[in-house]
Amino acid sequence: MTEARIIDGKAFAADLRGRIGAAVEHLRTAYALVPGLAVVLVGENPASQLYVKNKGEQTREAGMHSVTHRLPADTTQEQLLRLIGQLNADPSIHGILVQLPLPPQIDPAAVLAAIDPDKDVDGFHVVNAGRLAVGLPGLVPCTPLGCLMLLKDVVGDLRGLHAVVVGRSNIVGKPMANLLLQANATVTVAHSHTVDLPEVCRGADILIAAVGRPEMIRGSWIKEGAIVIDVGINRVPARDPAAAAAGKTRVVGDVAFEEAKGIAGAITPVPGGVGPMTIACLLLNTLTAACRSKG
Ligand code: GUN
Repeated sequence: MTEARIIDGKAFAADLRGRIGAAVEHLRTAYALVPGLAVVLVGENPASQLYVKNKGEQTREAGMHSVTHRLPADTTQEQLLRLIGQLNADPSIHGILVQLPLPPQIDPAAVLAAIDPDKDVDGFHVVNAGRLAVGLPGLVPCTPLGCLMLLKDVVGDLRGLHAVVVGRSNIVGKPMANLLLQANATVTVAHSHTVDLPEVCRGADILIAAVGRPEMIRGSWIKEGAIVIDVGINRVPARDPAAAAAGKTRVVGDVAFEEAKGIAGAITPVPGGVGPMTIACLLLNTLTAACRSKG
């Protein structure tokens, strides 16, 4: 049995960022248009702070205009909505991202609904979810968009392949299923109530794991030669007991990678698979939003 091809999302994302940078340069010189991304962070969640820092750095590296609004944890919903209103009206801003999760006094649904759908580079607004569901052009959530790009790179034409998406979140599972349908795959969405999940997974030519549970999907659940895309980013104790006792952690996906790589045809590693694609697709969405804008 041959080992799976390891899908190098880090290299793919770096190449994509390079191509986005070239397009940004062309927009600037030919049309005097600089795509602008505003990221809003409320509070001091350490993981969110790191994501926001990386987003700002990569936006600038691509030659885009980058603005980060850091608001205190006790910001009211009204204050946040006022800022979103200003960003909606700002012609130098083409993309708005409000980092989630938000503090408990703020209703995330109200915040997402307030973002101009044409600046909603997360693709979380119901208008964009609706556009995706009916096949109209819109902005597509970054993580599933990144997964689709990797899949198309590995498989080419997805027509007729059986894709099983494990997880039904609005951020990954549902938009992923819609993208796969649009690519003419046959799609099954599995979730916590699915009966005999291992057997459902074994039917997959393409298996997308987006459940947020460390190494839940075992090697024996995978069809030989299947393409496995692991969206999970789960922190677990370090392998070395002394390091684990000292509080050290490591990151694993939703798939038991070591088991899966002897069976799958291709698989994304964690880290270095889907993760780097998410920010690259955020830049792509910002570029798309700028191109569709009037200026
Ligand atoms: N928090 C974790 N991932 C994301 C993301 O993709 N978008 C936003 N807005 N918040 C997040």
